[in-house]
Amino acid sequence: MANTFDVAVIGAGPGGYIAAIRAAQLGFKVACIDDGARADGKPAPGGTCTNVGCIPSKALLQSSEHFEMAQSHFAEHGIGLKDLSIDVPKMIARKAKIVQQTNEGILYLFKKNKITFFHGRASFDGKNENGWQLNVSPTSGKDVETLTATHVIIATGSSPRALPEAAFDNKRILDNEGALALTETPKRLGVVGAGVIGLEMGSVWRRLGAEVTLLEALPEFLGVADVAVAKEAAKLFKAQGLTIHTGVKITAVKNSAKEVAVEYTDAAGATQKASFDKLIVSIGRVPNTKGLNAEAVGLTLDERGFIAVDDHCRTNLPNVWAVGDVVRGPMLAHKAEEEGVAVAERLAGQKPHVDFNTVPYVIYTSPEIAWVGKTEQQLKAAGVAYRAGSVPFMANGRARALGDTRGFVKWLADAATDRVLGLHIIGPMASELVMEGVTAMEFGASSEDIARICHAHPTLTETVKEAALALDGRALNF
Ligand code: FAD
Ligand code: NAI
Repeated sequence: MANTFDVAVIGAGPGGYIAAIRAAQLGFKVACIDDGARADGKPAPGGTCTNVGCIPSKALLQSSEHFEMAQSHFAEHGIGLKDLSIDVPKMIARKAKIVQQTNEGILYLFKKNKITFFHGRASFDGKNENGWQLNVSPTSGKDVETLTATHVIIATGSSPRALPEAAFDNKRILDNEGALALTETPKRLGVVGAGVIGLEMGSVWRRLGAEVTLLEALPEFLGVADVAVAKEAAKLFKAQGLTIHTGVKITAVKNSAKEVAVEYTDAAGATQKASFDKLIVSIGRVPNTKGLNAEAVGLTLDERGFIAVDDHCRTNLPNVWAVGDVVRGPMLAHKAEEEGVAVAERLAGQKPHVDFNTVPYVIYTSPEIAWVGKTEQQLKAAGVAYRAGSVPFMANGRARALGDTRGFVKWLADAATDRVLGLHIIGPMASELVMEGVTAMEFGASSEDIARICHAHPTLTETVKEAALALDGRALNF
């Protein structure tokens, strides 16, 4: 039957489209339904990650980093520039082109893997002997279509959380979509939440000339990172000109035609006022479960509104699975992908495993911050005896040649067995370097294993090796 499938995937973000491809590779007849649309109404598969997340943010981070390099660092290489300028609409148009190429790439992959793509919004209708019925309301306004599938994978992602005091209008009070679409640099930019989005988007607009103030609720800055990394980051970001206030409680937000006025109490409990031209609110995200008609079919949500799943991404309903941002765990594209692949393989009778302890975390600031495994404070709290080895990039020839010696690499290993427990990096290309730690942990390596691997010279990876040597008190270049 035309609209009958083995697997229907709701959502074509990194969780959904990757699950659909893996299921198709394994021989299933697959449908994927996604409601994302471009301004011209055409499909925009790829979810948050492609359209208003990972990809566009990295495009703007790259453009703004080039600008800052040209403005502040070219001179030390002997490169002179006159009349440097930034054309923000052009930068945004470049970002839009990259997004569109990615949308088209996913549509191509659907075709290549013979996946039927429905452009619309899916909701559960019920279940009969043939499987689950889904209704799809097409984005183009055509008639509702119905499809039947033996298995359903829900990968509907997440949406930005708003402050109770201030709804998003994406004119002055911006979510991630608005923050990625500004066509001029605001003079005064406020950011509520100094998490990943706040730091990345704050960095973009600071490099282009905005005065950026971050207002963070927690008393500590970047509490999720290793404490030494967070401390170094706070120092470097401050030196770049980011103003970061921690321990803040927002008490009022007034959005007028002229500016956004924010009232808050500071860490000492004193009332403060600040006015901004634009305010980015990046205080976390909420799972997308509305409109699925989940209640009617009895899909269970957890106490935080995520779809409740077991370790295998099984929901409480038979043959209904859920992956990515809509379920527990870190809200990361690569975590969503791993879960999507694992579910498709489980449907084929395989026994995959997703290890949350080896999921890498990256913050694409300058310098970049990346880690995998446990932080020093987590090991202390758990009473684990460990050894630490840390080496600064200042001791690395390649970093000196690059002109970027900020930060360090730190390994943590079990004191008794020397097994690697974590790798923490702040510095150039940390996003790439962290993969050595992921590989080490996946293979159960010891720090001695890393210390004995021949690393190419001159590369930044030598600092990763040196830090492993330092853990045993035998660094050679530091
Ligand atoms: P999503 O990507 O959100 O996709 C869900 C899709 O389902 C969407 O297209 C949605 O429209 C669609 N949908 C929802 N409901 C329905 C329905 N009923 N019917 C049909 N379609 C539906 N992560 C990283 O790992 N690295 C990064 O650098 C990074 N940068 C980010 C930057 C920003 C600014 C933001 C906001 C996020 C970033 N993330 C990053 C997080 C990453 O984008 C998410 O973790 C990832 O997109 C989650 O994938 P997903 O497939 O679960 O959901
Ligand atoms: P986040 O969880 O990283 O940061 C939110 C911050 O806001 C936290 O520091 C929190 O303490 C603070 N906060 C919460 N409520 C507040 C309030 N009322 N006032 C002031 N501060 C408050 O979430 P963020 O930055 O919104 O990003 C959402 C998700 O997107 C993250 O989970 C992240 O994993 C993902 N993401 C990943 C990226 C990457 O991998 N490079 C880049 C951007 C986003």
